[in-house]
Amino acid sequence: MSPALAFLGLSILGTWGLASIGLIVGGVILIFFPGNADTNSDPMVGGIVLLVAGLASGGLMQLVLGPLLGIDPPLPVKAKSIIPQAKLDKWASAGFLRDLPDGKPKEIRMHSLRVAVVRMGDRAYAMSGLCPHARLPIAGFPGSPIKAEPVQDDCVMCPLHGARFEVATGKVVRQPFSSQFNNDHPFLGRLQAKLLFFNRKAEDIQTYPVRIENGEVLVGLPK
Ligand code: FES
Repeated sequence: MSPALAFLGLSILGTWGLASIGLIVGGVILIFFPGNADTNSDPMVGGIVLLVAGLASGGLMQLVLGPLLGIDPPLPVKAKSIIPQAKLDKWASAGFLRDLPDGKPKEIRMHSLRVAVVRMGDRAYAMSGLCPHARLPIAGFPGSPIKAEPVQDDCVMCPLHGARFEVATGKVVRQPFSSQFNNDHPFLGRLQAKLLFFNRKAEDIQTYPVRIENGEVLVGLPK
């Protein structure tokens, strides 16, 4: 996706998202803090209408724009859906090791799967391209300010809300919205934790076996 298209999509999503949040917040205010306005209309009814409109608008936004931008619905992925490595034996090429950025995840579409391939020197690892917290891209949105984070302490960090996963095992070692992440990223962290994400947990992420043959990175996928 070109940076211009990504920027346009994110702008539309942001505007639409803010409008939806505005409707929801307006509805909550009318329902819980109706004040003493002397009008013929019932603030409770108005609040419920705004709330339902905001939720419907937010849902519609995800249904319409999400697939266009390659964004999946922001639902958690449970660790029980992890496929054991022994069953991942349909090998596919992720390209040559030398072409991968060193120390950062890069998302590659492989047989309709979104896979994040991580080169670390002369080794490579592969994991799901979607963070289990809210199914957002663990390698960020290329061309946008939300980019792949460098691997630290053998862990990949999701740039959206800061969950961290061991690159070799997929084990979650830090949950989203940690106080450190929220301090460093007030918009993606603290604000989103308050307004958008009631789910603050991430489970382990799917990893895929990797082989390197003649410099080519082969990833084991499900059949
Ligand atoms: S989507 Fe990755 S931490 Fe929220």
